[in-house]
Amino acid sequence: MKVLTAYSHKGGTGKTTALLMLTSAIEAKGRSALLIDCDPHQSFGAFKAHSVTEDADLWSERFDLFYLPYEATTLRHLEAQLLTADESGKYDYALVNLSGTDHPFNRHVLRYAELTLLPFAPSALDLMELPAALEVIRALGEEGEIGDARVVFTKMRSRMNAAQSAYVEAALEGFPVLGTQIRETAINGDLVMRGLLGKRIAHLEAHARGLQRSEIPRYQEALKECIALLDEIDATIAQQGEIA
Ligand SMILES: Nc1ncnc2c1ncn2[C@@H]1O[C@H](COP(=O)(O)OP(=O)(O)OP(=O)(O)O)[C@@H](O)[C@H]1O
Ligand SMILES: [Mg+2]
Repeated sequence: MKVLTAYSHKGGTGKTTALLMLTSAIEAKGRSALLIDCDPHQSFGAFKAHSVTEDADLWSERFDLFYLPYEATTLRHLEAQLLTADESGKYDYALVNLSGTDHPFNRHVLRYAELTLLPFAPSALDLMELPAALEVIRALGEEGEIGDARVVFTKMRSRMNAAQSAYVEAALEGFPVLGTQIRETAINGDLVMRGLLGKRIAHLEAHARGLQRSEIPRYQEALKECIALLDEIDATIAQQGEIA
């Protein structure tokens, strides 16, 4: 079972969106996942609630979800849950949704993740956060074993202004970055309402009429983006395994 998470000191960088994209990729590839929500906003819970509606079931039986509020739980408890999940052999992945704060709980969760994503939108505020986030990971690494971390560019526009391009350049020069980029799109921005994308596409193919059918290619494109992200994450983890 591969444990993945996304981390940032500040809120709203795109952590949950990146993880929701991974759920769609995991489902489309026929794999299973345990979703652990440690954010009091319970975005994973909202995602599930929106995925199962009266006219459509856009959720998967291969997914389980539970909520572990970080202020009312201990790392030992999280560790026990992850161990039990791993031993059950039920899940290919565990995705841990963290709140956007530099809370000690969040920092320690990074120890359990084989790969931590650090979402980065090309803005001055996000660029200011990156060194601090990477410093947390470096410091944890000095204290003991920790998985890998990769910046993932997100909310990327096809046309960026000069300042945004400069932030991207600076991030590329200073930090380990995934090649896959997450674009700023209406679908990505609203994933929590869309259900698992493969299920959404199948539902549209079966039921959509007229104009609604023209949405199918956009969903297919979004799903391709999700799968590219998961594929690169899997490849990065496999590479780390070889080095170790
Ligand atoms: N690729 C994207 N395209 C468009 N909008 C996006 C994208 N990624 C994130 N957003 C939007 O940016 C906002 C913040 O995203 P998200 O909730 O994923 O961030 P977060 O880091 O999980 O935030 P928090 O720290 O509050 O949990 C949301 O409104 C989301 O819809
Ligand atoms: Mg979030």
